Amino acid sequence: MIYDKCIEIVDRDSKVYSDFARIPYYPLAIKKGRGATIEDMDGNQFIDMLSSAASLNTGHSHPRITRAITDQLENFISYTAAYTYSEPLVALGEKLCSITPGEFEKRVVYGLSGSDANDGMIKMVRAYTGRSKIISFVGSYHGSTLGALSLSAISLNMRRKIGPLLPDISHIKYPNCYRCSYEKQSESCNLECMNDFKESLATYMPPEEIAAVVMEPIAGDAGLIVPPEKYVKELHRICKENGILFVSEEIQQGFGRTGKWFSIEHFDIEPDIIVMGKSMASGVPLSAIVARKEITEALGPPAHLFTMSGNALSCAASIETIEIIQDEDLIEKSKELGEYVKERFTEMMQKYELIGDVRGKGLSIGVDLVKDRTTKIGNKEAAAKICYRCWEKGVIVIFLASGVLRIQPPLVITREELDQALKIIEESIVEYINGDIPDSVLDIAKGW
Ligand SMILES: Cc1ncc(COP(=O)(O)O)c(C=O)c1O
Repeated sequence: MIYDKCIEIVDRDSKVYSDFARIPYYPLAIKKGRGATIEDMDGNQFIDMLSSAASLNTGHSHPRITRAITDQLENFISYTAAYTYSEPLVALGEKLCSITPGEFEKRVVYGLSGSDANDGMIKMVRAYTGRSKIISFVGSYHGSTLGALSLSAISLNMRRKIGPLLPDISHIKYPNCYRCSYEKQSESCNLECMNDFKESLATYMPPEEIAAVVMEPIAGDAGLIVPPEKYVKELHRICKENGILFVSEEIQQGFGRTGKWFSIEHFDIEPDIIVMGKSMASGVPLSAIVARKEITEALGPPAHLFTMSGNALSCAASIETIEIIQDEDLIEKSKELGEYVKERFTEMMQKYELIGDVRGKGLSIGVDLVKDRTTKIGNKEAAAKICYRCWEKGVIVIFLASGVLRIQPPLVITREELDQALKIIEESIVEYINGDIPDSVLDIAKGW
């Protein structure tokens, strides 16, 4: 593969762009994207198994998105919603209220990134409950603004030198059945992992001081971990019992990614607040918080606004995104293709000891690579080398956490494209096992 032009971009980039804003896996500089495929600056073609970090569920430059954006551009791009009203903003709000779970009156507020939406959510839950404490999870990533980062617990470098972060945020362990600290199987599990939290509520963390629990119903950057249904239900019950708000953080898992509109629907729970972003406008910056009406009423104007939030261009793209997901049955497709992909990786797991676990819902799948199946210690080196080799062979895939392949292709991907990508991933796994991927790759493929 020739990638001279990409390398030239990487060199120029190094002279102008801050190092701290990126975690590279390979020198990919994109020229063009269509559906589930990408072309780089040198004309190399790739199948995209990452969807720009789960932010392109409708694929690259869907013709309907391009048209919706172009139509809106011809009218107006943005006029701040802080001072004016607009039809796209309202129409999107109506749609969001109807596709989110919960048969109660809701209100919506917009932002431009998942991070800022989480900050807005923190303001809301504190204002509504009059409580300051918030619970989130170890391993979670909720964003880079100071509030969202305070919720996150994924990387020391993200938190170094910048403190103090927001006070009163505690992180509890995410329920992880594959690496169960209590060595339980699903039949013998009595939610022992919930005991620490219950004990903290009984001994040092007065529940009446907790405003909210913020949970990704499928933990994305922590390694695509699916919690047991009974854990999420029990957590929700504890929240209800104690007047604690339950926030479903759907920035990565929303908009059909997991085979439902929102991943919390797998657990049959109506959250008080849903935070969303990424795929909601097919790559155009937009985030939203959808909350019970009364929660939003705790804040007075102008408690949370940005000049560009709810801009007409983003809203038009988001309305079209929702309609594409409906018209093309992308939720059902995500479910079906997701099952197929999981099956294929499970077959690989039977052949290669390297794969310790395959999990996920819909097209949000984690393939956990381990040093050995007994200790289950993650194999980051294998993951880095395999992802790099996949890139060399024409597949874009990255890894998370301790060495989990992140399988999140656009939901519009075809079965043929998936088969091709899976073939290349398997070949790369075999090449890694055979020692055919050099260590030098690790200088480039650093990952999280
Ligand atoms: C679950 C989750 N929440 C929040 C964010 C932050 O979103 P953004 O990068 O749009 O600010 C991300 C981004 O990766 C995410 O995966």
